[in-house]
Amino acid sequence: MDPKEKEKIKNEIEKLRKEIEYHNYRYYVLDSPVIPDSEYDKLFRRLVELEKKYPEFYDPNSPTQRVGAPPLEKFEKVTHSIPMLSLSNAFGENDLIEFDERVKRFLDLPFNIDIEYTVEPKIDGLAVELVYENNVFVRGSTRGDGYVGEDVTLNLKTIKSIPLYLPENSGFSLLEVRGEVYLDKKQFLKINEEREKKGLPLFANQRNCAAGSVRQLDSKETAKRNLKCFVYGVGRYEGRKIHSQWELLEILKELRFKVNPLAKKVKNIKEAISYCKELDSIRDSLPYEIDGAVVKVNDFELQQKLGAVGRSPRWAIAYKFEEEVVITKLNDVIFQVGRTGIITPVAILEPVQIKGVTVKKATLHNFEDVKYKDIKIGDYVYVKRAGDVIPEIVGPVKEKRTGEEKDILPPEKCPVCGAPVIKEEGEVAIRCSNNLTCRAQIVRSIQHFVSKNCMDIEGFGDRIVEMFVEKGLIKNICDIYTLKKEQIIPLEGFAEKSAENLINSIEKSKNNTLWRLINGLGIRHVGEQLAKQLAKHFKHMDNLMSASKEDIIKAIYKENAKTKKKSTIIADSIYNFFQSEINIKIINRLKELGLNFEEYELVEKKESKISGKTFVFTGALNNFTREEAKNIVEKLGGKVSNSVSKKTNFVVVGKDPGSKYEKAKKLGVTIINEEEFMKLIS
Ligand code: IVH
Repeated sequence: MDPKEKEKIKNEIEKLRKEIEYHNYRYYVLDSPVIPDSEYDKLFRRLVELEKKYPEFYDPNSPTQRVGAPPLEKFEKVTHSIPMLSLSNAFGENDLIEFDERVKRFLDLPFNIDIEYTVEPKIDGLAVELVYENNVFVRGSTRGDGYVGEDVTLNLKTIKSIPLYLPENSGFSLLEVRGEVYLDKKQFLKINEEREKKGLPLFANQRNCAAGSVRQLDSKETAKRNLKCFVYGVGRYEGRKIHSQWELLEILKELRFKVNPLAKKVKNIKEAISYCKELDSIRDSLPYEIDGAVVKVNDFELQQKLGAVGRSPRWAIAYKFEEEVVITKLNDVIFQVGRTGIITPVAILEPVQIKGVTVKKATLHNFEDVKYKDIKIGDYVYVKRAGDVIPEIVGPVKEKRTGEEKDILPPEKCPVCGAPVIKEEGEVAIRCSNNLTCRAQIVRSIQHFVSKNCMDIEGFGDRIVEMFVEKGLIKNICDIYTLKKEQIIPLEGFAEKSAENLINSIEKSKNNTLWRLINGLGIRHVGEQLAKQLAKHFKHMDNLMSASKEDIIKAIYKENAKTKKKSTIIADSIYNFFQSEINIKIINRLKELGLNFEEYELVEKKESKISGKTFVFTGALNNFTREEAKNIVEKLGGKVSNSVSKKTNFVVVGKDPGSKYEKAKKLGVTIINEEEFMKLIS
């Protein structure tokens, strides 16, 4: 190519990269985009096209690289050039006053002088370090033990609020930035909901979830987790001088990092205390979890003089918010068995009131958590309600121990069916090995089969399934379809009419499209999305049942752009499911019973006005339930999402819309009412 032409292409590529990164900044850091989605997509597509055609201009920091890279075998170790310390804690205002006095004593200053502090929300996530050399992001690592962490560069690149380049005139030849990777509260719930549906162990809290997401060997998985990152500190830096924490935050903002907008500079410890309390009072209204506030001496020179004691700096302290924590006795531990056999220890507590709710049980998550927290049966324990919902055991009150307490040991046998328990490599969870006849697993898997996102059998709630299994009316999913009205009428809570209604709903479900059945089978790693993909690809259950492992990999790899390794694990699970004789027998019986095995919803997507478009619904609709509206959109080749982003094409607003409406207005997304929606789909 003529060198002039080449130079032109190179310039265009570089210009596009900068432009796209600027728009990422507007969207992900400032939350205020300046161009519509379609414009952004156009720029992005053009860049992808040019990079493909001219691979000689490859740049590992191009915005196109944010989608994740091929998986790693393991993480390399990274030694932090300046250790990443941790903070000592302050509980209550007296501890903060003492902290202020300690600072003054150490600096030989009179007690009546004012020291300037910054107060920042303490984000509950995972600490990371981001290294920029000559304005390019070259390495990202976890805190690890403070001295040595892990190289998670590829994963951190997928977080769009982390800049991949600094502005050319940043003034730094080297800059090590420190911050916290975290998840929004909603995103955390969503991830756990999806894991539950897929029969995967749940994350105990936001911090574990953020840590698990950053420490994925497959960065494409990290990319899906929607992580965010607030920055608040520096390690080494060369170039400009920085005189204070406040100036540092200003500089980081100028360099386009995401800095928490609630950070504040205060004149003295009194103001710091009152701002800590203010942050405490608004914590529930924030979209992310904070567990305290960090108070730092503002002046860097003073920080330098103060230095550190042990592993904590003398110039900063973490003010921990008061939780409503109560003490109660842990009377016993029971073991719950989930649909895929995961066994979860559950604490039975002496009933106690927390925030107006009586708490009798609390999940202990898994046995590693139990060991880590050192909880025993008979202990008095601190209990709090985390994020206002699930009660959590913080730890034992060790002073109250009598020596009579008993260890909580993982059962060797399934508490429900007695089969041996297994622990798979790399998993913290233990499982019952008997997937076929364990009663707990049977109940849970039938509950899953009839649930809304599977066969959607109306009136078949969890309790009813439990009762039917208890009474011996159903032993597996096939038995649902041979139930007779006469068997149901005499049962508790039923009468002639309600029994008839249930039989009708069961009958109706036979005509469901294939993906519902696939999802209902409860194959490990297969959730609603993957069930839809399989149904669309194989079109008929018989094809899926006889598919080879390679066929399955092709089906899931092609569309999901999953990594080969991940696809293989999932394909193995699907393939093995259909090799099991008992599963084959059950599925064949379902066919005999008249269940539809064909996919008719997703196979022939008509080209319509809404193909490829993404919809978000907010508020109540007059003519459809949410589920119905979703089905229509999907049938016409569109997608329905739960949250509004700049990629949303239409927000359909019904009666009493929620915050999604406000967000749509802010982002300039097209907003339509129900009537306009009906026109679109007609
Ligand atoms: S400053 C010298 N500021 O809290 C320690 N930390 O135990 C410097 N954290 O490991 C930490 N928000 O993971 C600082 N605004 C903030 C923070 C914060 C969260 C975490 C961080 C650190 C831990 C301290």
